[in-house]
Amino acid sequence: MPYYVWIIINVLFIIGSVLYIWGAHSYDSTVILLGKLLAQLAILLFLINVNMYFIFLVIRKSKVRNVKVALSKLSRKMMRAHIPIALAGTSLIALHAGIMLFQLGEIIGFFHPKMITGYFAIFMLALTLFAGVLRHKKASGFRRKFHLTTAMIFAGVFIIHLFLPL
Ligand code: HEM
Ligand code: HEM
Repeated sequence: MPYYVWIIINVLFIIGSVLYIWGAHSYDSTVILLGKLLAQLAILLFLINVNMYFIFLVIRKSKVRNVKVALSKLSRKMMRAHIPIALAGTSLIALHAGIMLFQLGEIIGFFHPKMITGYFAIFMLALTLFAGVLRHKKASGFRRKFHLTTAMIFAGVFIIHLFLPL
């Protein structure tokens, strides 16, 4: 996959999420708006971490030496922030989940698809963090695949959760 496809996907995701989150429905409640803002920031942080896959992929596949060297340097810098980014995103999302549960749970119902996909996204995030810790301790073939798979499923679930109409 050429690297610009990956850049286009990122740009589309950022534009799409901003338009959807801030254009689709509005509230009078500042608390709920805060809950949306926290989630918007968190998904941008998670997007940075998910991008590690594409950066490593381009490093592996590229035949252009300059691209390999530049991306290797970038990936080392980004990996230093990988765990802090994951923890910051997790804290923001915990607040988001709390706000939505307590402010909207009774109104839309705790079994609304938006809620169910939210629970599932939290579950996949926990699994991704757990797999990340395993991989951090000792990288085996299985642990690599495990962290990558959970991270991609997590991304898929939170994208569904995000674009699901309320
Ligand atoms: C217990 C877990 C969760 C619950 C109950 C929950 C609930 C909700 C609800 C009710 C909304 C709609 C707010 C609105 O549009 O006014 C929402 C929006 C959103 N959630 Fe969650 N969520 C949870 C977890 C997550 C997770 C783990 C992520 C991302 C990793 C996430 C990302 C988002 C984003 C980006 C939005 C904005 C989309 C929109 O406004 O419709 N949420 N969430
Ligand atoms: C939001 C949570 C996270 C996401 C979305 C995420 C995503 C990713 C992705 C997509 C990769 C590239 C995998 C590959 O190409 O094989 C990666 C690598 C990695 N992640 Fe995570 N990760 C998260 C949290 C964590 C945490 C909490 C840790 C450790 C405590 C961690 C440790 C690692 C390590 C050690 C690598 C391998 C880096 C290398 O090969 O040099 N990750 N992560």
